[in-house]
Amino acid sequence: MYILGIETSCDETGVAIYHSKKGLLSHHLHSQASLHSEYGGVVPELASRDHIRKLIPLVKKTLHTAAIRSKDITGIAYTAGPGLAGALLVGAATARSLAWTWKIPAVAVHHMEGHLLAPMLESEQPAFPFLALLISGGHTLLVQVSAIGQYQQLGESLDDAAGEAFDKTAKMLELGYPGGPRLADLALQGNAKRFHFPRPMTDRPGLDFSFSGLKTYTMNTLAATSKSAQDKADIACAFQLAVAETLTLKCRRAIRQTGLKRLVIAGGVSANLQIRESLTRMCHRENTELFFPRLEFCTDNGAMIAYAGCQRLLAGQQETLEITIKARWPIDSLQ
Ligand code: KG4
Ligand code: ZN
Repeated sequence: MYILGIETSCDETGVAIYHSKKGLLSHHLHSQASLHSEYGGVVPELASRDHIRKLIPLVKKTLHTAAIRSKDITGIAYTAGPGLAGALLVGAATARSLAWTWKIPAVAVHHMEGHLLAPMLESEQPAFPFLALLISGGHTLLVQVSAIGQYQQLGESLDDAAGEAFDKTAKMLELGYPGGPRLADLALQGNAKRFHFPRPMTDRPGLDFSFSGLKTYTMNTLAATSKSAQDKADIACAFQLAVAETLTLKCRRAIRQTGLKRLVIAGGVSANLQIRESLTRMCHRENTELFFPRLEFCTDNGAMIAYAGCQRLLAGQQETLEITIKARWPIDSLQ
């Protein structure tokens, strides 16, 4: 079964071909980072227009790299939500039109399910059940995963998502867009001992997160300095450490509460090396296996959508020809 995967939920056009037995055959990504950088964040209308321009050429390129023809494709998977409505519509309309033309099925994939299953593209895959920490620009979720499509949400961010907090803090430090990776780079120059930022919501029970207070804390800390390059690096370092330790503490709590000894981390922020290291140390102490996708599959990509769609088609999922998207879509409503 050759599955074409299409991802257009935000500012990356991702296309991939996954084969149910041979695995991932090809994948390509077009990032819109340079398009949005002069505005300091994603401009939804520009994102949609760019997906329109780039998607079909990227599909052709991905078919070429996989050395297959369109008639070999047996199904199409596309991100139907959550995400930017206009951007999602480009992927949904293209996927459904190609499927109709090629007389093959198309399936709508939940973007966060794509992230959650991204570690399945690696050689060492987690067995079910496992815990998943999903940390992206729009979501921070702790999920108990019993099987594909069986997701119980244990915790979420009550305000900013982890990636959003990285991006907003980076903006405050005038690092530009995309902020997360730039803040991580700057943090390498920082002195971790100079500032101590709070670890939000760690002193009360539960598995929810809150990151907006860290933003205010950053603003006040920055205002009390001369805003030199070293001040900014020290703040970046303290902020990143606070996020890493907060995520780690909540994951440890989830491991102890559920007794599950396998943890997956995925989503754009899981590319952060300090977060990976902090979780790796904790998992070692808790005798828990840790799984994460390779760096390029932490952030948005077509491969995770092709994989998730393939599993859904193999499970017999069928959908009508209707082009529908869901800008908001809780992961625990999936089946
Ligand atoms: O999963 P993703 O590509 O898109 C969404 O689904 O939102 O995640 C993007 C987020 C952005 O907020 C970006 O700043 C953050 O992931 N990110 C990082 C790193 N790489 C990407 N945050 C911290 N450290 C990184 N190395
Ligand atoms: Zn994402």
